[in-house]
Amino acid sequence: MLHKTLKQFPKGFLWGASTSAYQVEGASLTNGKGPSVQDVKTPPAGTSGFEVAADQYHHYKEDVALMGEMGFRTYRFSISWSRLLPEGTGRVNQEGVDYYNALIDECLKYGIQPLVTMYHFDLPAALEERGGWANRATVDAFVEFSELMFRSFGDRVRYWLTINEQNMMTLAAEAVMGIDFSKFDNPNKHVYEMNHNMLLAQAKAMCLCHQMLPDAKIGPAPNIALVYPASNKPEDILAAQNFNALRNWLYLDMAVYGIYNNLVWSWLEEQDATPENIQVGDMEIMRAAKPDFIAFNYYSTATVAMPGPGEAGTSGDQQRGATIEGFFKAMPNPNLPRTEFGWEIDPIGFRNTLREVYSRYHLPILITENGLGAYDKLEEDGSVHDQYRIDYLRAHIEQMRLAISDGVQMLGYCPWSAVDLISTHEGIVKRYGFIYVNRDEFDLKDLKRYRKDSFYWYKKVIASNGEELG
Ligand code: BG6
Repeated sequence: MLHKTLKQFPKGFLWGASTSAYQVEGASLTNGKGPSVQDVKTPPAGTSGFEVAADQYHHYKEDVALMGEMGFRTYRFSISWSRLLPEGTGRVNQEGVDYYNALIDECLKYGIQPLVTMYHFDLPAALEERGGWANRATVDAFVEFSELMFRSFGDRVRYWLTINEQNMMTLAAEAVMGIDFSKFDNPNKHVYEMNHNMLLAQAKAMCLCHQMLPDAKIGPAPNIALVYPASNKPEDILAAQNFNALRNWLYLDMAVYGIYNNLVWSWLEEQDATPENIQVGDMEIMRAAKPDFIAFNYYSTATVAMPGPGEAGTSGDQQRGATIEGFFKAMPNPNLPRTEFGWEIDPIGFRNTLREVYSRYHLPILITENGLGAYDKLEEDGSVHDQYRIDYLRAHIEQMRLAISDGVQMLGYCPWSAVDLISTHEGIVKRYGFIYVNRDEFDLKDLKRYRKDSFYWYKKVIASNGEELG
C-alpha cells in the first residue's frame, strides 16, 4: 500500500532500548543472588560466561544517565528471579529488592518509564534442579515471584512483560539456555508440557497484575517473525502456515484468546506429544487472562519449504531456521542481506509482521527488541563508527512508520540493546548497544562506557519523535 501522507508516531510513543538481567548485570553470584540456569551452564567454546557481563549492577547510574542523555522515554530491563529469590521461592534477598528499587528510581529521575520483563531466560537453578518448568510447582513459584515484584515495584512500574521469548525457550532451548532436550524419550512431549506450564504461569501473572495493580499494563513478549513460503508451490504455503503456527500463533493465540492453535495441536497429536499435564481449570485461567498489549521482539523473517519424505530435522537459534521432519524446512531467502553473524535483514518483513499481528489480535504493539549484532571497533579517540547499525535501525523505523500509516496501533520501540552486553550464545564480541562497553571476551579491561555514532543518531530520532532519521 502506498501512502500519500504518512501518519506520525503517536504522542508519548515509548522510545527506548532493552537489556536482560543475566546478559548485562554481572554480580551473578554475589550480593545475595542465587545461581540461575545461565550461571550453571557451560558457555559455548570461545565465549565468556555471565559473571561480569557489562557490570551494570555497579554501573547502573552511569548507564541510566547515558540513556537519559539519549532522551529515552523507557528502559526495558529484566528482573533476575534468583536475585530476588535465591532459591526461586521462599527466602527474599533484600539486597536484590534494594538494587531494583534503586534502578527504577534512577530511571524515574530522568523521566524514563521502567518497562520490566519478569523473566528473561534465567530460571533459578534451584528450580531447574527440581524439574524446572516440567514441574507444576514452578508455576506457583512464578506467581510468588510475580506477587513480590508487583508488591515491591508496582507503585512505580506501569508496564510489565511476562516472559521473554517463551517460543525460543521452547524451539531453541539449546542456543538460549544451553539445555538439550534430546535425552528425553519423547522430547516434544516434555517440551510442550513445560510450555503448557509456562503459558499457565503467564496467564496467572497477568490476572494477578490486573488484580493488584489496576492501572498497570501487562503483555507477553515472544519473538515474532512472519514466515514466508520459499515459493508459490501450495506445499510451501502449507509449510509456511505450519511454521507460522508453531513459532508465532501458538503463543499469541494462547495469550490473547486462551486457545491452543489447532495446527500445532494436531502436529503434537501425531507424535503423541500433546501435553498431558493440563489440569481441570487451566483453560479457564488461560481464557480469563487478558493482555493489555502485545510486545514482541523482531530481528528478521523466516522462509520455509515443505521437506521431502524422510528429510531429517535440524536445530537452529532464534533466527537461523530449523527443520522439522514432515512439517517445514528452513530455507535461505536470496532476497535478503545478512548480518556478520548470518542473520537475515528484512525491514519490510517488519512491516509485514506488524500488519499481520495487529490484524490477528487488534491490540497495541510494543517492540521490545530489534537490532544488529556486529563486531564494533573502538577507535583511539573513543569513537565507534557503527553506521551499519544506524542503517539497520533507520530502515526498521521507516517500516514501523509505514505500518502505523497502515493503521497498526503502536506503543513504543525498544531496540536491542541499550548498552553492549553478552549475546545469548555468541559472546560479547557480538555487540548490539548504543553504548560501547570496553571489555573483550575474556579481558575485562576497564568496562568504561563510550558513546557510539548510533548513540548520537538515536538521540535525534527520539528528540524529533521519529521524524529525523537522517
Ligand atoms: C533475543 C533475546 O532472542 O535475541 C536476547 O531475547 C538476545 O536475549 C537477542 O540477546 C539477540 O540474540 P543473540 O543470540 O545475538 O544474543
